Amino acid sequence: MFQLSNRAQLYKRNSFVYIVASISALCGLLFGYDTGVISGAILFIQKEFALSATAQEITVSAVLIGAIAGAASGGFLADLFGRRVTTLLTAIVFAVGAIATALAPMLSWLIVGRIVVGFGIGFASFVAPLYISEIAPPNLRGGLVSLNQLAITVGIVLAYLVDYAFAGIEGWRWMLGLAVIPAIILGIGIWFVPDSPRWLMSRGSVKQAAIVLRKIRGTSNVDYELQEIQQGLNQQKASWSEVFSATVRPALYVGVGLAIFQQFSGINTVIYYAPQIFQLSGFQSASAAILATFSVGIINVLLTLVAIRYIDKLGRRPLLIGGLAGMALSLSMLGLAFRLPHSSSALGWIAVASLMLYVGTFAISLGPIFWLLISEIYPQKVRGRAASVATMVNWGANLLVSLTFLTLLNLLGPSNTFWLYGLICLVALGFTYFLVPETKGRTLEEIESQWRNNNVVQRSKLSP
Ligand code: BGC
Repeated sequence: MFQLSNRAQLYKRNSFVYIVASISALCGLLFGYDTGVISGAILFIQKEFALSATAQEITVSAVLIGAIAGAASGGFLADLFGRRVTTLLTAIVFAVGAIATALAPMLSWLIVGRIVVGFGIGFASFVAPLYISEIAPPNLRGGLVSLNQLAITVGIVLAYLVDYAFAGIEGWRWMLGLAVIPAIILGIGIWFVPDSPRWLMSRGSVKQAAIVLRKIRGTSNVDYELQEIQQGLNQQKASWSEVFSATVRPALYVGVGLAIFQQFSGINTVIYYAPQIFQLSGFQSASAAILATFSVGIINVLLTLVAIRYIDKLGRRPLLIGGLAGMALSLSMLGLAFRLPHSSSALGWIAVASLMLYVGTFAISLGPIFWLLISEIYPQKVRGRAASVATMVNWGANLLVSLTFLTLLNLLGPSNTFWLYGLICLVALGFTYFLVPETKGRTLEEIESQWRNNNVVQRSKLSP
């Protein structure tokens, strides 16, 4: 009884922070929707504009190119104008991109529109985790930041559904244009949230920061936290060279390493090409392949919910290590399945089971935890820029994998291709074990001072 009322109090106290985080997480929804939607839309775009294979590839990857550029410039914007104004800008860019692509009279227009949408995705992908991590109380930060990953997975499923709904009328303009709705909701919602107290302090607005902190912590006793933030700000000067300085470099390696592993583990070959993989493994009909793909999307959402539940209890490292082991295992199963004779009915089912296990274990590990860690491991003064470096590398790696997957399939065959991704998961596991810090329950300032003191945040035990 006592515990229950305590808990209710805790939730009540933090309800404002949940609302603020959910509004910001709409960025993730747009990210997921706009990356997922093209898989269905491209079929009809190709028909309408009579696209060659190369033109198709350019249309699909335009978003990724925009995302790299958006991530590169967004860090600077987030540090200069604040997380809130950058989110507002993100919403505007998404809305403009959605309308422009829906109305595109010619291919070049469509490609430019997709690059604009990509900018929005680039901004969104780092500003939301960054902002949420800066307003969240340490004991809830993992779950709150991962709301953004949950929104990404919901956005992907929504995109599959909208593609399916409009396929009958070949409505690719609707598919692309409907993203304007969440963009408008994000744009309106962000007016009502405060800026991050850490960013306000970095601009010298101590009074304003105190007001925001009182509101999001539900207590007037925020002096200690203000002091802690100020101490973090006093440590270093913010400049690009600081991002690559000896003190920040270990954290930068962790962020960039995880960015590469998140993409080189092959997740988007599944998210973007799942129907083709299922057809390759024996599901002849397109609708069976689409249904199987939809189930993969749902598993992604459900297991992200599991991650949110446990990320602040078990910690980041156990989930990452366990998840990566599961990913390596499922990819080796998938590779083995493709060694079975093509006539074997087992092939299709083993492929489905392995892909489900693969996406599920990604969803409890590398999916949310990469975005979470890059929002918490960098010192305040360089957080925006350093997070944008890791985000940019993530989008660059995404582009590389998307452009090479089909070639790899032809060159190495499906078995070896999936084994290669499995091997990368094993390397990622070693990287995590030796280099990735545990950040559970620590304030951002504690994490920062640990890097300074030890050059690495203490690797805490794997047990909760
Ligand atoms: C990754 C995306 C991926 C998505 C799938 C995100 O964490 O960054 O590239 O499409 O997860 O759920």
